[in-house]
Amino acid sequence: MSDPTQAFDREAIHHHYDLSNEFYQLFLDPWMLYTCAYYRDPEDTLEQAQLDKLELVCRKLRLHAGERLLDIGCGWGSLAIWAAKHHGVRVLGVTLAEEQARFAHDWIRRAGLADHCRVECRDYRDLAALDPFDKVAAIGLIEHIGPGLAGGFFEGVHELLRPEGLFLNHGISRNHTWQRTPQWDFLIENVFPNAKLRHLSRLTEQMEQQRFEILDVENLRPHYARTCRHWAERLRLQETRAIALVGERTYRTWLLYLTASSISFEQSSLNLHQVLVQRVEPARVLVPTTREGTYASWPRRAARAQAAGA
Ligand SMILES: C[S@@+](CC[C@H](N)C(=O)[O-])C[C@H]1O[C@@H](n2cnc3c(N)ncnc32)[C@H](O)[C@@H]1O
Repeated sequence: MSDPTQAFDREAIHHHYDLSNEFYQLFLDPWMLYTCAYYRDPEDTLEQAQLDKLELVCRKLRLHAGERLLDIGCGWGSLAIWAAKHHGVRVLGVTLAEEQARFAHDWIRRAGLADHCRVECRDYRDLAALDPFDKVAAIGLIEHIGPGLAGGFFEGVHELLRPEGLFLNHGISRNHTWQRTPQWDFLIENVFPNAKLRHLSRLTEQMEQQRFEILDVENLRPHYARTCRHWAERLRLQETRAIALVGERTYRTWLLYLTASSISFEQSSLNLHQVLVQRVEPARVLVPTTREGTYASWPRRAARAQAAGA
């Protein structure tokens, strides 16, 4: 691994995610989702909204049993497990965080899904030799992709997809009003050393330049304001345990980061866009052109029952 950007990213991810799984368990939901939840009802709990986010992602990707899904930046393995269990797909998840990969590996084994999904500790730049996938998800990865690297990332995803395959990119983007502040610099230095924000127009332009057709764009900004608020409230309730695990400075820095993020989403300087794109083959349209299938026959399931079944 001689690429200096890879070495920098590995160190940044280690700094952020290897704080310990126990620390993240203090404020994340039981499925360990660390991205924007989807509140079908504004009063929903974080647990419910995270399960609904997983299902929304699977529905947007139109997963069918037997398909192969690649989840790049898979966190602790939740989407891989949900998609294998509820949609019958075979999943490869990759993360750069070793603690996450270990956690996911154990979780997959305990869930009896080892024949259907696998999580590896790998950089997204080291995936080129894999057989093509039917679908690709990147949920919360684009924020970690450094300056000048997004085009290459989309090009790589294009190569990893079979013709007509779908790719869902879910990530934070900045509004044109967003401004760099000393608080942002503090958080970059202390929390997210490799964070990079882009405007949606730049991302979609780069996707098109890599021959993707943009099918659907949805902004979940208010959902992320609520998610971050829920995380901050949960962390504050765990103050004593958090300080014992990571020390007071890190605890207070994280409280600031989660609270400031919630406010940035509330005030709309930050957005959260899900962008669904297709690797197009000329003159063929295989995906239905309405959103109806995404939301049809979607019963509300109780989060508690789903957590128990994980
Ligand atoms: C914000 S977390 C999202 C995790 C998960 N998708 C979720 O929804 O909870 C970002 C993920 O991207 C992974 N990641 C960051 N940089 C990466 C890289 N260069 N290659 C592979 N994964 C990376 C991190 O390890 C982490 O798992």
